[in-house]
Amino acid sequence: MSLAERIQNAALHAKIMSAAQAAQLIPVGANVGMSGFTGAGYPKAVPQALAQRLSALHKAGDTHARIGLWTGASTAPELDGALARADGIEMRLPYQSDPTCRQLINAGQMLYTDMHLSHVAQAAWFGFLGHLDVAVVEVVGILPDGQLIPSTSVGNNKTWLDQADKIILEVNLRQNPALAGMHDIYYGTQLPPHRQPIPLVKTSDRIGHPYLKCDPSKVIAVVITDQPDRNLPFDAPSDVSTRIAAHLVDFLQHEVKAGRLPPELLPLQSGVGNMANAVLAGLNQGPFDSMTAYTEVLQDGMLEMLRSGKLAFASATALSLSPEAASEFNGNIDFYRQRIVLRPQEISNHPELVRRLGVIAMNAMIEADIYGNVNSTHIMGSGIMNGIGGSGDFARNAYLSFFMSPSVVKDGKISCIVPMVSHHDHTEHDVQVIVTEQGLADLRGLAPSQRAKLIVERCAHPSFRPQLLDYMERAQRSGAGLHTPHLLDEALSWHSRCLKTGHM
Ligand code: COA
Repeated sequence: MSLAERIQNAALHAKIMSAAQAAQLIPVGANVGMSGFTGAGYPKAVPQALAQRLSALHKAGDTHARIGLWTGASTAPELDGALARADGIEMRLPYQSDPTCRQLINAGQMLYTDMHLSHVAQAAWFGFLGHLDVAVVEVVGILPDGQLIPSTSVGNNKTWLDQADKIILEVNLRQNPALAGMHDIYYGTQLPPHRQPIPLVKTSDRIGHPYLKCDPSKVIAVVITDQPDRNLPFDAPSDVSTRIAAHLVDFLQHEVKAGRLPPELLPLQSGVGNMANAVLAGLNQGPFDSMTAYTEVLQDGMLEMLRSGKLAFASATALSLSPEAASEFNGNIDFYRQRIVLRPQEISNHPELVRRLGVIAMNAMIEADIYGNVNSTHIMGSGIMNGIGGSGDFARNAYLSFFMSPSVVKDGKISCIVPMVSHHDHTEHDVQVIVTEQGLADLRGLAPSQRAKLIVERCAHPSFRPQLLDYMERAQRSGAGLHTPHLLDEALSWHSRCLKTGHM
């Protein structure tokens, strides 16, 4: 496809320039909304050029030259990595998983607002985040009237394009033009008190437009790129994640037999990473057919399930594929366009829709405590890992909410079941089922004392079980308050003992 076919609007074609020229148009200190969600659809050239520019300014003595960086979720080394290495980010939101960002945030050198992903767009409209100066958005193509063909993620792009004063577009020639038609951009959201119900009742419903609206007069630059998404390979399922998947599949079968779930289940939401992918592999080999997904990210596992026919339809906001899966997807895109819709993250993660559809939420955690509170974000209570992402959007509103992790990490030295979580993301009120390779604890309808017994007996590693049972019994005997008994000094020293031994 020629450049003229990719960029069909003559006025915007005339704005083509280099990434370095475009980066010069971003004011130092600006809030910049960039596309990108889980390593898909992020701008690949302008952030690197901006990082070079900010580095040069630092060398020239302007040591405070930075931007505020807003995205959909995590991005990639060419965006988060490049800007973080250049010390170019003052404030980052709403989610990251970049090692340099993590290091700077934990060193107190980068500010980070970790947000529920469904909240971000509305927080921007409400004016809660400050002013958005520039949007930098990757697209597949530009139509004659200036509408944009979205790329491999939608994220917050609609909001960034609406809200920003100025827009820089990256047209990525490597992205498949046949992505056109896979997206559904909903423009019906109003601000309170004028909000109306969102008219989506099935995962496959289309309620919006295939393209992003864009005011051409706000576009200050168009940059051409030709690079693939991050496309990281997934690990083969480990023994631990295979066992977690098996517990989960058994439980779902039990729920179908009990009449609490239909044979095709309810729409699945699956978190990100290797464990989530392994669970999907388990479901692909399991007994359920004609499943659907209402989720955030489509990983390799869901693509395989679509191919095998186990999954009938998937709604998400982004793709996050290995190189092999990306090539398979592009080779058979007409098949996938019938079975996938990509939506803005305010819709893919919307609590109203998650609750209406009865989503089955399956997310990973760092640790859970004996009462079922979950920490998804912090190591030892203080150091950020990634962020809460969409886990809270789904967990609180799900029909069934699972959290899973290995029972131990770091060669068995750290238990992921602890007396009291060192940081709270999901309270006991939002967590229904905890799964480790040891087993599964169904917490529905249980009081704290019942939960504690079940979690320790079913999910804790045998090497930590005696200590946890001993803690539970002594806390119950202490009589300080028997609804959720704790020995506070001891609960907190559990973590600091790990810290002292250096296993964190
Ligand atoms: N104490 C100390 N370290 C721990 C730990 C614990 N209880 N649990 C995990 N870790 C360490 C691991 O050892 C690993 O360390 P390493 O990088 O040095 O090897 C690291 O944390 C990441 O753990 P890993 O086993 O690789 O987990 P993961 O890739 O499955 O990620 C989360 C787990 C919780 C970090 C990840 O799922 C996440 O960020 N979740 C929050 C966002 C979310 O749920 N998004 C999906 C919503 S749609």
